[in-house]
Amino acid sequence: MTPETRKKIETLFERYPRKRGALLPAIYLTQAEKGYVDREAAQDLAELFEIPPVAVWEVLSFYNMFYTEPQGRHHVYVCTNLSCSLRGARTMLKSLEAHLGVKAGQTTSDGRVTLGHEECLGSCGTAPMLRVNSDYHENLDTDEAKRIVDSLE
Ligand code: FES
Repeated sequence: MTPETRKKIETLFERYPRKRGALLPAIYLTQAEKGYVDREAAQDLAELFEIPPVAVWEVLSFYNMFYTEPQGRHHVYVCTNLSCSLRGARTMLKSLEAHLGVKAGQTTSDGRVTLGHEECLGSCGTAPMLRVNSDYHENLDTDEAKRIVDSLE
């Protein structure tokens, strides 16, 4: 953990009645350093929060927006919940797997894309959809999804 991140986290402590309340934003700040939180960074957090490392790891492994391994430069996540699945999301995901040469949960060998699927993202009315990093792409078909993925640097 960089001294800058440590300082930002210490500032967070002032906003919460108990230090531990700042754990989620602290993990978020730590992840921003290199895109994931490894065991060493989790250990740093545990020391800073004066809690056992497993308490940090429990939070890290519970939320799907936190990563414990290196990620691609872009996260491409297809919603595979009911509305999107009924409108072809699972076929779209399989097509993207074939197109990128990885399975959901894996990262392309060039580190460009981590592909995945997730539960409802609240855009059921414009299904099927996928999320690229924090941007939503909606009303997709497989060809459009491939074009979006191909446009990523
Ligand atoms: S089911 Fe896909 S956004 Fe809701």
